[in-house]
Amino acid sequence: MTDTYLNLVNSGFTKKIAQQLGLPRPAVLRRFRPGQPLLDGPVLVLGSGADADTVARILSGTSRAAAGTAGTDGVIDPASTIPGWDLDVRRDPAAGDRYAGVVLVLTEVAHPDDLAEPVLALGSVLKALPAHARIVTISRPATADEGPATAAARQGVDSILRSVAKELRAGATGNGVVVADGVPVTAPSVLGGLRFFLSTRSAFVDGQLLDVDTDGGALPLDWERPLDGRVAVVTGAARGIGAAIAATLARDGATVVTVDVPAAGEQLAAVANRVRGTALQLDVTAPDAGTRILEHALARHGRLDIVVHNAGIVRDKLLANMTPDRWGSIIAVNIAAQLRINEQLLTSGDFTNEPRIVALASTSGIAGNRGQTNYAASKGGVIGMVRATAPLLTAFGGTANAVAPGFIETDMTAKIPPVTRQVARRLNSLQQGGQPIDVAETVAFLASPQAGGIVGHVLRVCGQNLVGQ
Ligand code: NAI
Repeated sequence: MTDTYLNLVNSGFTKKIAQQLGLPRPAVLRRFRPGQPLLDGPVLVLGSGADADTVARILSGTSRAAAGTAGTDGVIDPASTIPGWDLDVRRDPAAGDRYAGVVLVLTEVAHPDDLAEPVLALGSVLKALPAHARIVTISRPATADEGPATAAARQGVDSILRSVAKELRAGATGNGVVVADGVPVTAPSVLGGLRFFLSTRSAFVDGQLLDVDTDGGALPLDWERPLDGRVAVVTGAARGIGAAIAATLARDGATVVTVDVPAAGEQLAAVANRVRGTALQLDVTAPDAGTRILEHALARHGRLDIVVHNAGIVRDKLLANMTPDRWGSIIAVNIAAQLRINEQLLTSGDFTNEPRIVALASTSGIAGNRGQTNYAASKGGVIGMVRATAPLLTAFGGTANAVAPGFIETDMTAKIPPVTRQVARRLNSLQQGGQPIDVAETVAFLASPQAGGIVGHVLRVCGQNLVGQ
């Protein structure tokens, strides 16, 4: 689906008119292309503790495998063995500098008073940020364990991040990584999350906080192909977001099994060919769907590592007019099928090699939506499902997480009446709908080895949609 308004306010004559009228001008977002540099300019690392120094060292270090340096006690500092990212890192804001990224390492704040210095330093560079700049906070969760003052400071970081994200313009985004106490900032998922948020892979992820629970997972050997050697299944892959997920996982190195209903067989075969994977015509509500997926993956590709539950449908009706059929079909496809497939995979004994489950939720499952009690129940169900499924996978080094898209330009949203569609598109900080690729990039990140420490969470891909949290 094309966003005609976005195209008009960004091209030629109509761009000038929009400028003169002061109309909102959503930016054309910059998206990931293999070979693209991580950032197009210097990155400013703010924060004064040891964690800030460690992060700055990794960002500025050379990407050649590091042998590690010994401290004065002769012990090799583990952080010094991590290959660097070759970025141009600055530690103090300088007048005239335009930072492509700003990383605020705030893991050590212990009182709201500690926030002023780094946050005002961020404020001093905001006006000079280039288009598509990235702001990322790294902080700790506001649990009760460290006492009221620390919790106040930490919770403040989340709210600052969400507020700053709403002040950014021209395709710039702000997101945060929230690292559980006891987990070092060098943990794979902290660095993986930081890199995802700095990169163009997260173009439509804005105002979000990503929880890292453990130091599980691993840094990829090649950041551009983190899924090399892995076999993934994507349901609902014949079109829309599912087709984009299949293409993105394949781009990142995975061999992909595409699944969709027999009626979509032709489209499915085309997608499977494009991604050099295989096609399995299957209704995910079939009682033996999980077993058939596993049998196909093992027979054709020898293993199964990643399952993406993307197949989903809508049957909107106000609850007062809801019918058992509309209710039942949504629950059956959007959540009951996922539960059954997972159970069959988990009991098979063949889904044990650092497995990843990534399921498609929705912002409607978080905030609720008029006319969507059935859909919201199923998508809220997905969020509950991953939370309870992730611990069942930890013994195998696996995780389960959800992605909650906001408004994404697909056949599904093309059916929304035009006026409602226009409004829905603009109701986020980036003032536009996302593209299927935006959801796919986030799915690929959560399926990657560097996301192994993210256990049972939901990451929104919604441009900081104004609904819900
Ligand atoms: P879509 O309608 O364009 O594609 C869904 C695909 O799932 C279709 O190819 C369809 O044939 C397949 N499918 C449906 N029932 C199936 C079944 N029983 N077995 C196997 N395949 C089945 O949808 P879209 O927009 O690509 O959405 C993909 C996922 O993202 C869905 O779970 C949806 O709920 C979710 N989502 C989409 C949003 C959007 O704005 N488009 C927003 C939030 C969530």
